[in-house]
Amino acid sequence: MARRVISEREEELPVSTIGELIKITEESKGIVSLGPGEPDFDSPKHIIDFACKMLREGKTHYSPPGGRTELREAISKKLKRENNIDLPPEQIIVTCGSTEAIMLALFCTIDPGEGVLLPDPGFLCYKPTVEILNGMPLSVPHKESDGFQFKTEEAEKIIVPEKTNIMILNTPSNPLGVVYNKKTLEEIADFVTEYDITVLSDEAYEKFVYDGEKHVSFASLNGMDKRTITLQSFSKTYAMPGFRVGYAAGPENLINAMKKVHIYSSICSPTVSQLAAHMALTGPQKCITDMLKEYDKRRKIMIKRLCEIDGISCVNPKGAFYAFPNISRFGKKSLDFSKWLIKNAKVATVPGTEFGRMGEGYVRCSYATSYKKIENAMDQIENSLKNIKK
Ligand SMILES: Cc1ncc(COP(=O)(O)O)c(C=O)c1O
Repeated sequence: MARRVISEREEELPVSTIGELIKITEESKGIVSLGPGEPDFDSPKHIIDFACKMLREGKTHYSPPGGRTELREAISKKLKRENNIDLPPEQIIVTCGSTEAIMLALFCTIDPGEGVLLPDPGFLCYKPTVEILNGMPLSVPHKESDGFQFKTEEAEKIIVPEKTNIMILNTPSNPLGVVYNKKTLEEIADFVTEYDITVLSDEAYEKFVYDGEKHVSFASLNGMDKRTITLQSFSKTYAMPGFRVGYAAGPENLINAMKKVHIYSSICSPTVSQLAAHMALTGPQKCITDMLKEYDKRRKIMIKRLCEIDGISCVNPKGAFYAFPNISRFGKKSLDFSKWLIKNAKVATVPGTEFGRMGEGYVRCSYATSYKKIENAMDQIENSLKNIKK
């Protein structure tokens, strides 16, 4: 019998349908894509110029594992100033994007068979990462009827108390665009205290909130800093996804454990990227408000146009750069609906099921694309859906 080369763990990972959709998109001509999960803006010029200068000055060596001191110091100040989280630089680890931080945090906190509460629909790397680590994903349904807020009643129904010590929170959320309100966060704080659960608070979209909403870091709530690892990133905030810099901040024992594993996973986030991230944090911040203003304009037109289409309903997203319209009245599964839209409306979206079982009946539309393209996409979707029976 031939020796098995691919691990069972890998073989059991679900295959993403995004590959199939990208193929269809490439084969069809003139597609407007509402698929992107990253800013369409270029990284700010002053950051790029500084990164180029640093490369020319020979900053091409490894950084200290865990991150360069001046960057961790700047992050510590930022967390205090903007997030009301008071942690010294030693309790911060700089990672290759927050994706690596999610992997490290889970690696250090769950043993095989242990449960992790995570949002459904939720960012598509959570569940597979838990599965790679042989953990047990416990999906907490987020329902349109609740405005997609986290409901502790839902978590109560699925928690396996003796086996669950981690919960992933994501606000503002990908793909829902929901921003958890204060009441939700306080209920979650009571819940995690009762069950003695550690929280991974993914705040990758912290800067993109609209309509006067405020982003509240979970660790800033009374007593929650003792049980929370805060995950943040430069990818969305400063439009630097390709630099690969994120970070985690939290209790000393957990961050130290993550530092230990980080040496084996990547050694360090690229040195030039860490220098660029330091420039991002300490340089002009206008780039963020400029992007926020533009996203908000696009959000408004996208939501208005989606809600005007007969058969579509859409919760008004208060954060991130995604809309998550309900398309269930067209009688097609999310994946089929997305394929249908590519062929008939020439618009690419991401099926809601990419983000979990609860995403059935929805598609994700990103407004990290130009205003003009959004208008065109909405015209094309509206026209193509006119003749479909609901
Ligand atoms: C909710 C959320 N968290 C984390 C990430 C990972 O971002 P990065 O690894 O670039 O920091 C993403 C990327 O799309 C995301 O949507």
